[in-house]
Amino acid sequence: MSDVSDGMCAMAWRDNALELLDQRLLPGTVRYQRLTTADETARAIRDMVVRGAPAIGITAGYGVVLAARARYAEDPAVWQTRIGLDLAMLTDSRPTAVNLCWAVQRMAQVMVGLTGNPETRLLAEARAIHAEDVAANRRMGQLGAALLGGRGSVLTHCNAGALATGGYGTALGVIRAGYAAGLIDRVYADETRPWLQGARLTAWELIQDRIPVTLLADAAAAALLCQGQVRWVIVGADRIAANGDVANKIGTYHLALAARYHRVRFMVVAPTSTVDLSLADGSTIPIEQRAAEELLTLGGQPVAAAGVEVWNPSFDVTPAALVDVLVTERGVVLDPDAGKLARLMAIGRFQHNAASIGGTGPENTG
Ligand code: MRU
Repeated sequence: MSDVSDGMCAMAWRDNALELLDQRLLPGTVRYQRLTTADETARAIRDMVVRGAPAIGITAGYGVVLAARARYAEDPAVWQTRIGLDLAMLTDSRPTAVNLCWAVQRMAQVMVGLTGNPETRLLAEARAIHAEDVAANRRMGQLGAALLGGRGSVLTHCNAGALATGGYGTALGVIRAGYAAGLIDRVYADETRPWLQGARLTAWELIQDRIPVTLLADAAAAALLCQGQVRWVIVGADRIAANGDVANKIGTYHLALAARYHRVRFMVVAPTSTVDLSLADGSTIPIEQRAAEELLTLGGQPVAAAGVEVWNPSFDVTPAALVDVLVTERGVVLDPDAGKLARLMAIGRFQHNAASIGGTGPENTG
């Protein structure tokens, strides 16, 4: 059994500033951007310097620290009022992943009643959000790997690895743990058009960990599942509605459909910061629409007929009925639905025993 790394760091707080690995340049160039303002942080999230639901939440947490520093320096008497604009800007920098809003709200709660210079206390909270995410990923890795059963191959979509989180990854965390336990022999990675998170980021992470990885075009996935070697499709999530519907990278939904048809099991791995109980189902999850250029060009070269119109949603919604298991840091939910998710979310944040909700074995929610 070999251990695996937490992978490359997507973000770090160094010398009083936020450093972000510029994921647009990977895998060719490893370069960190140094950010000192909330404006720069919101722009980096919007422009996909950093991406992946937990990673943009953590980044926004550090962005709140930068905002508080500037607003307090501007006027210590009214910083708490003025920072409202920065919080809204960070929250709105991308629409689909709820982790952004979750992290900004958590930072805002800490501000209540703070006196004096807020930076030290807020930085401690941002660091806590970051550290808890890595711990959650490690936990989910163990819980998800325990469900894999016999040895075989898995398929993943987009990048839900160290780069998309505080470290280690959600779906890739399960894959890392499963590989270390000898339960995974190969990972198939969808290239994930149009931004190529699978080809550029997931393949890069797995190669660094020496985990065997095969790249395929998104359109080849159903044909691969038909062949029978893939035992699990394992993906992350950007927002999970109260009934278990899952928003994730565009293309996830058709993977789930093909998986169900071919009797391949479908696992979603996400921390509870990705669950949004305020939305009854996936129909009201805001779906980001991205620029037409992403489809009209490839490597800067035009590839489509001039004048064609484009539909470019960045995410889709997989109905809960197609999800076999949801893995969170609080426990696993088999065949998720509204009742099971409500029970999961009622479990305390610092619970030591993970729950298994909806399983055939004895239930442990205590
Ligand atoms: O547009 P992106 O790259 O931010 O989309 C990322 C995804 O869809 C991931 O699968 C999701 O955020 C889960 S990351 C642990």
